[in-house]
Amino acid sequence: MAGSGFGTIFRITTWGESHGKALGVVIDGCPAGLALKEADINKYMERRRPNAGKMSTKRKEPDEAEILSGVWDGRTTGTPISIIIRNEDAHSSDYSGLWDVYRPGHADFGFDAKYGFRDARGGGRSSGRETSARVAAGAVALKLLSEIGISVHAEVESIGAYPAKSIEAEELITGLRKEGDSTGSTVFCCASGVPAGLGDPVFEKLDARLSSAIFSIGAVKAVEIGDGCAVSLARGSANNDPFRIKDGKIVTAGNHAGGILGGISNGSEILIRAYFKPTPSISVPQDTVRKDGTETVITVKGRHDPVIGPRAAVVVECMTGLVLADSLLLNMSSRVDRIRSFYGASDSSEDAGQ
Ligand SMILES: Cc1cc2nc3c(=O)[nH]c(=O)nc-3n(C[C@H](O)[C@H](O)[C@H](O)COP(=O)(O)O)c2cc1C
Repeated sequence: MAGSGFGTIFRITTWGESHGKALGVVIDGCPAGLALKEADINKYMERRRPNAGKMSTKRKEPDEAEILSGVWDGRTTGTPISIIIRNEDAHSSDYSGLWDVYRPGHADFGFDAKYGFRDARGGGRSSGRETSARVAAGAVALKLLSEIGISVHAEVESIGAYPAKSIEAEELITGLRKEGDSTGSTVFCCASGVPAGLGDPVFEKLDARLSSAIFSIGAVKAVEIGDGCAVSLARGSANNDPFRIKDGKIVTAGNHAGGILGGISNGSEILIRAYFKPTPSISVPQDTVRKDGTETVITVKGRHDPVIGPRAAVVVECMTGLVLADSLLLNMSSRVDRIRSFYGASDSSEDAGQ
């Protein structure tokens, strides 16, 4: 099964299944000397964890991250950081009766067609629970970014047709819970303090890398940078962000571009919006087929969020952090003058200064 790794220098590999013994991640390429403790990671894990609130599933997932390697005396050692998250509330029985049935809106059918089996205990590798490993890795990336003043924050913005924090959204969730149905949502993410120069101009554009990272989160169906889809209706005179000088620095007035031009960060805030589909597991009866090709009707049991955005916001934040940390490290090899200065070498080329 390919594709469990992500990143170039700050590289992660996630492993484990939703209802297996544990999930985890190995981070390779994190610089040595970063102050890191489990609490730094667990404060992010806490935000992804289902809670007893109106918006979330009643499933209990303790989601405690334990660092197994790569940290000594409170600091990263530069060696692979291995993090484990044990599964403690895996009710496989909720999925009995679904072993040979393809759940609509889930990966089941395609996964079976590809691999010749599927893990029916909650989706296996395709489960939203896999994102707990990304959050653990993202927490480390965000800690690294904070060393140079970069901060990233994401939160759920809308639920169905309503602002996320409204009474209407709350009522919608309460109603959906009763009906056993679900709704879509959006998450908005802002990265501040990102220096100009991250990203590349062709295939590794920063916006391409960010959207690929966010599209890799289950249930994401669209990603916007800056004004996103609205630019197709805009005029150039309104959409361009004029450059100005502020406190001796080049800045933009406005940020329609969402902090990225030509695939490279321009020093403005990076603005991202992710669109999540409704939770596919619903207890409303749905037509489907069994593995043997016979038609049937299913109602999916188990404890599922009626909306994904509230729990997925921290996943968007962490995937953004992983891309930015990797881009930051990649950017350090972009210019010979900076490499010379890092190694204390002088410019010996004949045409220096021309
Ligand atoms: C944080 C998170 C939690 C999720 N929780 C659930 C859930 O409780 N029930 C469910 O049916 N889908 C859940 N999903 C979505 C499914 O994993 C996803 O829709 C499914 O694997 C199909 O993939 P696709 O929607 O990307 O095509 C969750 C996704 C994320 C990111």
